[in-house]
Amino acid sequence: MLFAHPVLERSRVNRRLMEGVRDLAGVTVHDLYERYPTFAIDVAREQALLVEHDVVVLQHPFYWYSAPALVKEWLDLVLEHGWAYGKGGAALQGKLMFNAVTTGGGEDAYRRDGYNRFTMRELLAPFDQTAYLCGMTYLAPFVVHGALRLAGESTAPAAAAYRKLLEAVRDERIDLAKAAAAATLGEVFVEVAR
Ligand SMILES: Cc1cc2nc3c(=O)[nH]c(=O)nc-3n(C[C@H](O)[C@H](O)[C@H](O)COP(=O)(O)O)c2cc1C
Repeated sequence: MLFAHPVLERSRVNRRLMEGVRDLAGVTVHDLYERYPTFAIDVAREQALLVEHDVVVLQHPFYWYSAPALVKEWLDLVLEHGWAYGKGGAALQGKLMFNAVTTGGGEDAYRRDGYNRFTMRELLAPFDQTAYLCGMTYLAPFVVHGALRLAGESTAPAAAAYRKLLEAVRDERIDLAKAAAAATLGEVFVEVAR
């Protein structure tokens, strides 16, 4: 799991989600801002980590309808032509990718008739297409809406759901076709959890 929060000490929700999965067997929590505070990304190391894992989770707060800047820098540098895509670029083929995001806006804001005018899936289209170009299967996002209203114990249900989701993905208990087509992983996951 690639974790990206530029001010972790001020994070209420992402930090809680991340701390809740840190001890999960088979899950690596890789904190990008902690590792690369000056944005000097070690491309070879990042590529090696990707090769070692089957699922790439990008966990971050939603910033300007996208991810914090270091995630973009990571994509720009790590997903090299001839490695991730293009001629000879097959290193990521067959892996899974999805975003796990927290948003300030409520669920109702991320609708055609809401004040953000676009759905989460529409806004995350660049990630979806990036995964596709690299031969990965992109799943619906795990989304915690209304993060600004959450703090302390009210983050517990989201943290529990996130942990269960990562366990289900790790143990291949998720219907991938459904998870790829859904609006959010929450919907699919509720079915799995039943
Ligand atoms: C620079 C910046 C940009 C933001 N852009 C958005 C946005 O586009 N949509 C949204 O719903 N919330 C936006 N927010 C609110 C964050 O998503 C929210 O503060 C975060 O998800 C809370 O998680 P945390 O407690 O882990 O920091 C933005 C916040 C910041 C600081």
